[in-house]
Amino acid sequence: MNEAAIRQQENLQTQIADALRAEGKSLDALVLEDLAGVDEVHIGGLETIRPIVASLGVGAGDVTLDLGSGLGGPARFVARETGSRVVGVDLSADTTLAGNQLSGWVGFDEKVQLEVADVCQVPHEAESFDAVLSVHVHMFLEAPEKMFREAFRLLKPGGRFVVLDPIRIGDGSLHYPLPWSADPAADNILRETELETLAAAAGFRSHTRSDLSALAIDWFGATFSRISEMGGPPPLGLHLVMGPDFPTFALNAFQNLQEEKIALLHLVFEKP
Ligand SMILES: C[S@@+](CC[C@H](N)C(=O)[O-])C[C@H]1O[C@@H](n2cnc3c(N)ncnc32)[C@H](O)[C@@H]1O
Repeated sequence: MNEAAIRQQENLQTQIADALRAEGKSLDALVLEDLAGVDEVHIGGLETIRPIVASLGVGAGDVTLDLGSGLGGPARFVARETGSRVVGVDLSADTTLAGNQLSGWVGFDEKVQLEVADVCQVPHEAESFDAVLSVHVHMFLEAPEKMFREAFRLLKPGGRFVVLDPIRIGDGSLHYPLPWSADPAADNILRETELETLAAAAGFRSHTRSDLSALAIDWFGATFSRISEMGGPPPLGLHLVMGPDFPTFALNAFQNLQEEKIALLHLVFEKP
């Protein structure tokens, strides 16, 4: 993982608890939506997770793997909306610890287990998952083909690999720093064709693709307006995970989307 990646933070769960209390929330009466300001660590928050959940094709009795699960926001949402059990893996021990604590607060500690592991080497049996999800992870990887190969190995035949990622479009240089990279030299972001090539090389066939960039631009616009109306960011926000550079990251990602230098894609692959 490169240096601009999500900061390792000790006691992240304590900071999140303090922020929730500062917003007048009781830890005993939380719903998933109360956590979305901090546990959806990707462009678009819950707004871009809602439209992708059904494409996993899972339900009660199934098990879904979330590669690079972070604090577990998408994993818990998938569990609630589909009934599937979800296992998440993430390289960050602090994030995983905090994520499991958050699951306990909202009553999802049995349905969602977050584990510390590399998405390129996941300690689970082949063909043990009904679906695999990956949200905003490929850009952190120097060898993303390994994640695609792991997704293929871990999926049951007929299962889907769902990716929600920013991808590179156009030719102009991007605005940096971004959450996944401080500068172009350290940026592993791929183009759609490159992701498709990795998926095909791993054995997948393409199922569907949709462009969620417009949704993401609206979400950024609404988020910045809210912050401006409130005179500053709310206590519970992605600054808790990404640190004080978060406003710069967010503005650069927004500008890259608006200038059509990146796009936000929902890609669905299928294991034959
Ligand atoms: C932008 S966050 C996305 C988190 C989560 N998917 C979400 O959408 O809320 C990227 C996550 O990928 C994780 N990550 C990066 N490289 C990884 C690797 N090689 N193995 C496992 N996790 C990794 C980071 O620790 C971070 O939690």
